[in-house]
Amino acid sequence: MADFKEVSADAPVVQKVTVWFENRFPTAFAEYKKHMSEYYAPKNFNVWYFFGSLAMLVLVIQIVTGIFLVMHYKPDAALAFASVEYIMRDVPGGWIIRYMHSTGASAFFVVVYLHMYRGLIYGSYRKPRELVWIFGCAIFLCLMAEAFMGYLLPWGQMSYWGAQVIVNLFSAIPFIGPDLALLIRGDYVVSDATLNRFFSFHVIAVPLVLLGLVVAHLLALHDVGSNNPDGVEIKAKKDARGVPLDGIPFHPYYTVHDLMGVGVFLMVFSAIIFFAPELGGYFLEYNNFIPADPLKTPAHIAPVWYFTPFYSMLRAITSEMMYVLVACVLLGAVLGVAKARVSAALKGAVVVAALVVAVLMLNIDAKFWGVVVMGGAVIILFFLPWLDTSPVKSIRYRPGWHKYVYAVFVINFLILGYLGVQPPSPIGERVSQAGTLFYFGFFLLMPWWSRLGEFKPVPERVNFAAH
Ligand code: HEM
Repeated sequence: MADFKEVSADAPVVQKVTVWFENRFPTAFAEYKKHMSEYYAPKNFNVWYFFGSLAMLVLVIQIVTGIFLVMHYKPDAALAFASVEYIMRDVPGGWIIRYMHSTGASAFFVVVYLHMYRGLIYGSYRKPRELVWIFGCAIFLCLMAEAFMGYLLPWGQMSYWGAQVIVNLFSAIPFIGPDLALLIRGDYVVSDATLNRFFSFHVIAVPLVLLGLVVAHLLALHDVGSNNPDGVEIKAKKDARGVPLDGIPFHPYYTVHDLMGVGVFLMVFSAIIFFAPELGGYFLEYNNFIPADPLKTPAHIAPVWYFTPFYSMLRAITSEMMYVLVACVLLGAVLGVAKARVSAALKGAVVVAALVVAVLMLNIDAKFWGVVVMGGAVIILFFLPWLDTSPVKSIRYRPGWHKYVYAVFVINFLILGYLGVQPPSPIGERVSQAGTLFYFGFFLLMPWWSRLGEFKPVPERVNFAAH
């Protein structure tokens, strides 16, 4: 009882109640201080810093609307499609809940892609925030799994055939592939069993992991402190109380700042829900308004827009492209051996490994390597903290031409995304092959190009003009 706070008998009721709680649940008060009122964030955050809190908002929207959808949805191949139509037409307010959830899925990816891009340009993944980034990449993987499994639930033509195509990809893995695909589907084709397990993963397993990862992401961030557009560590300069000179309390300053982002976001979000919930077939595909028919394959199967850059990379890996990839592997090994200052034994091992990989690449079906490339495109993000060797963090202090490299990276990603929605064509195939090489080149050659050029001096304190 020694730590019990006293409150005078004539104190206001609010204060009495607060102290009553504080004496019985001090952890809540200490955590509030640590993460809100005494979490010092750099004072120079800009609009790019809206997207973390917006991602949390969308996460909440998805969970809340999801809970209400589950009240009326039937995870049964014979009833699923009709139950979604029932939600849309008969359940009071069902249509808005469903549109919030379907628009929320796309909004999640818009927000998360922008959030990741912010990390990329300001070097937020670099020391000491490597784990913040790695938790983020794991969140991105989970989000992809969550969206993929959720997409099967309305049991429309695209749900069905999209799942069929993607699950079949697993069967391209040598030895274990066919059994793995069977395990995922629970059947020889996508069926009621698949719908049930995807439902279970979508509503409980993956969201739990996602929530756990978001908590880890934020705790890790608050342990090391936020980066900022200048890439300057604010903890390096503190006042006598130990508060960073360029830091301001998260609450109230950034709660208010983020509320503005929330306002703008909700305007756009509601405009889409009320006026264009299908968004021209990009948010809800037209083919998905037709019930799943295992006997009728749609002419053109494409995933939802947020997967299409990766889908393009999958389609780019033809048997012809394999020769280019083999050449890249061998060239990489030769360059590695010529440049790296390592023992002769290690160099020998690299050459042998490259030859083994080249032989495997030429002997295993290109479809499998397509899957490897598609998966690799996400996995490579985990290694970004160690690929970037630039002496500065933020793009602001990098050589001017680095900005063009990032611009081409974004344009290339958008082109890959566009091609992934289009039916296959010979030109599209070539462009997506070039795009895939650029995507991987950007990351794999980063240890080399990120240190080239003339860097600008990084200031000691952040740049900030009050507005
Ligand atoms: C559900 C998804 C996510 C949520 C809710 C989320 C939430 C947040 C929040 C609230 C912040 C602090 C505010 C801010 O800096 O914007 C943050 C920071 C950060 N996030 Fe995420 N995040 C998510 C996904 C990701 C992903 C996919 C990545 C990267 C692959 C990522 C990387 C980062 C990094 C590097 C920071 C530190 C930024 C800095 O200090 O400059 N996050 N996140």
